[in-house]
Amino acid sequence: MMNQNLKDKVAVVTGSTRGIGKAIALELAQAGAKIVVTGTNEAKLKSSLEEIQATGTEAIAIKCNVADFNEAKMLIEESVKAFGRIDILVNNAGITRDNLIVRLTEEDWDSVIEVNLKGVFNCTKAVTRTMMKQRYGKIINITSVVGVSGNGGQSNYSASKAGIIGFSKSLAKELATRNINVNCIAPGFIETDMTAELGNSEALLASIPLGRTGKSTEIAKAVGFLSSPDSDYITGQVLHVDGGMVM
Ligand code: NAI
Repeated sequence: MMNQNLKDKVAVVTGSTRGIGKAIALELAQAGAKIVVTGTNEAKLKSSLEEIQATGTEAIAIKCNVADFNEAKMLIEESVKAFGRIDILVNNAGITRDNLIVRLTEEDWDSVIEVNLKGVFNCTKAVTRTMMKQRYGKIINITSVVGVSGNGGQSNYSASKAGIIGFSKSLAKELATRNINVNCIAPGFIETDMTAELGNSEALLASIPLGRTGKSTEIAKAVGFLSSPDSDYITGQVLHVDGGMVM
């Protein structure tokens, strides 16, 4: 039997129909939390919901494009209507549109900022009042090591991820007196659909001190910790889960 340290807690995980988000939703479900699964793909929402319900916890699925302010507002309102509270918000939804700056289009820039950075604002803004009233909340934002280190060919993505860090630290200060903790997790190279086409070359592996890529479940474990009372004294931090890639 797993540690049920999130029993009776309610968690919303954005972009939880595949990859890291789905692993996070499963991890929190196994720790006893009630889960709101969200994403943009209807068919995947249904299959993810079934997988999460199979852990024995209560869960619902809500379609939501996080880049849309009103859809994010609806997501939070519907979640509160279903479960009465929200204890944990994991802002995980994210996209890449990689290119060198000379080839990077305005559309590549706007779409990445809108989903990755404005999406975090939209969902966080929507949940803040609920968490303030509860005087309890854990907000965990998935950034990236490249938000700290930068990466050629990913200026739009790195800017969005660095933006998330500044946003999170500011909110950690703003919301601390309301007992709301705001932290980031910065994954390194995790094997998911997002990174599938990049392959894992020897050069890549050589840049990772632990000598291997990471798994979605390894990010999920860190989110589990930052969602639980074990991390009550941690706020405003960026926890790297990257095999030592950026230090
Ligand atoms: P993925 O592409 O496999 O999954 C992304 C999820 O976000 C999908 O469920 C997708 O449907 C959802 N999503 C995309 N746009 C959305 C929107 N507008 N509204 C709602 N949901 C949307 O990617 P992966 O690898 O699981 O990444 C998850 C998070 O981790 C992202 O924020 C990514 O930037 C971050 N990350 C991933 C790394 C990796 O190596 N895979 C490394 C560092 C950070």
